[in-house]
Amino acid sequence: MQRHHRIRSSRRRFLQTYPPMLASLALVTCARKSSTVGLSPQAQGLTPTPACGDLPTAALTAGPFYTPNSPQRKSLLEPGIAGVAIPLTGQVLSRNCTPIANSLVDFWQANDQGEYDNNGYTLRGHQFTDAEGRYWLETIVPGIYPGRTRHIHVKVQAANQPILTTQLYLPEEPLNQGDFLFRPELVMTVQNQGNEKQASFNFVLDVNG
Ligand SMILES: [Fe+2]
Repeated sequence: MQRHHRIRSSRRRFLQTYPPMLASLALVTCARKSSTVGLSPQAQGLTPTPACGDLPTAALTAGPFYTPNSPQRKSLLEPGIAGVAIPLTGQVLSRNCTPIANSLVDFWQANDQGEYDNNGYTLRGHQFTDAEGRYWLETIVPGIYPGRTRHIHVKVQAANQPILTTQLYLPEEPLNQGDFLFRPELVMTVQNQGNEKQASFNFVLDVNG
């Protein structure tokens, strides 16, 4: 088996800090986890996203729409699905930045109308990271639904390790700051090239290695 290279990245993404979030959203059924975010009041309202070597990726509730046993696939696109395509790529890393091969990455999300398929597996799928810990997802920008900003749900699990359940967000979404589940460090890096989008996010699991 190929030996994994340790990656020590000093690059940090800087994301906008949002003002204190509104506390009451009656339509959201799940409570935010109680961990705090180490946001520092840095210049111009910008704060660094935790990189591997710092904190593991923050956990967030799965919410009420997770369906187990999703199909194994890297593309959630299929006939009848409308919306703006957004490929999402990244790595699953340990706390000391080692890529974790064969990690389970299980995505689910709403369609562009903010609706989940709770009877089937539309816009649901899992995959396993490659030898460099990489995953690749082909999906669409999720729609909004009452009480929530746009988000993609995901569960990430290295073999024989606890499951990380969290949610990914898009930058510069008007509803981000009003969504009490929103966490700035869970914002994907999104590049816009014309009408095309490309998103990336690295997961850091609370495992050694
Ligand atoms: Fe959701």
